[in-house]
Amino acid sequence: MSETVRFDDKVVIVTGAGGGLGRAHALQFARHGARVVVNDLGGSAHGEGASASAADRVVAEIREQGGQAVASHDSVTDGDKIVQNALDAFGRIDVVVNNAGILRDKSFAKMEDADWDLVYRVHVEGAYKVTRAAWPHLREQNYGRVIFTSSTSGIYGNFGQSNYGMAKLGLYGLTRTLAIEGRKNNILVNAIAPTGGTRMTEGLIPASVFELLKPELVSPLVVYLGSEQCQDTSGLYEVGGGWIGKVRWERSLGAGFDPRAGFTPDDVAAQWQTISDFEDAVHPGDNVEALKEMMANLQKFPG
Ligand SMILES: NC(=O)c1ccc[n+]([C@@H]2O[C@H](COP(=O)([O-])OP(=O)(O)OC[C@H]3O[C@@H](n4cnc5c(N)ncnc54)[C@H](O)[C@@H]3O)[C@@H](O)[C@H]2O)c1
Repeated sequence: MSETVRFDDKVVIVTGAGGGLGRAHALQFARHGARVVVNDLGGSAHGEGASASAADRVVAEIREQGGQAVASHDSVTDGDKIVQNALDAFGRIDVVVNNAGILRDKSFAKMEDADWDLVYRVHVEGAYKVTRAAWPHLREQNYGRVIFTSSTSGIYGNFGQSNYGMAKLGLYGLTRTLAIEGRKNNILVNAIAPTGGTRMTEGLIPASVFELLKPELVSPLVVYLGSEQCQDTSGLYEVGGGWIGKVRWERSLGAGFDPRAGFTPDDVAAQWQTISDFEDAVHPGDNVEALKEMMANLQKFPG
């Protein structure tokens, strides 16, 4: 059976593709016909140092398998250079996979500005810089796919990862607005929260499970989200170990108080169960839907 998800005339940038999940994504895009910019700074998992070898190795692997790829050794914080690299090598950009990342885990009590700032810079500023530099090209050609890499540590929180969680959920916030702004130019923007056995998770995940959480089990979703076949935008998908699920916001129906008469903290306490009751929960898809119950409350208590 012939493949439908193909990238024969497409150019894909994968950041942080010198190892782990990014390497798996880059190899899979190439296998599906994409010309790939393999970006990696080649530093440590804590964001120290740099080396060209990580990206170069993956480019060599792709070429050995008959694919097309070039290396990019810049930091994602120099996103314009990575995009220029893609234009110089292949003349266009169709897909941006923001994957590069580091960890500087510390409890909040021990958090230092340098750990906070570096995690912000690589994950958030880096993804911003690469995507911002690619954006005009995607708009101009009326086509683009952007994927951000979030994390369950951002969605749910995780001890010792206040900096990382902040950055990762920030990327989902970026996803939501870019999905709105990109829609009219056929630029679809989605986020993944992956779990994979990589140097980032080595020692954190039990060895027997680590083995099974192969990075290449995350890539089929990323490649699909990067394809023309995918018509969804604004999504957040948890993925790993051969499983994929979609995440959405849920909010209780809430409790209403008289906006003109005002209300007290005791009134809030009296309604606490209703405020927290998810029995008839709603799932707002946008700002307008989110404000529906609030607006209805204004109508409920006419002046
Ligand atoms: N592995 C997991 O279970 C997991 C879970 C949630 C989120 N993530 C996210 O997935 C992404 C990939 O992580 P991984 O597990 O493959 O880790 P990894 O350390 O194997 O890969 C990250 C890559 O990013 C590169 N990188 C770091 N800083 C860079 C910079 N400034 N510019 C360019 N490249 C840079 C690194 O050199 C490395 O090759 C990260 O964003 C990570 O936060 C991973």
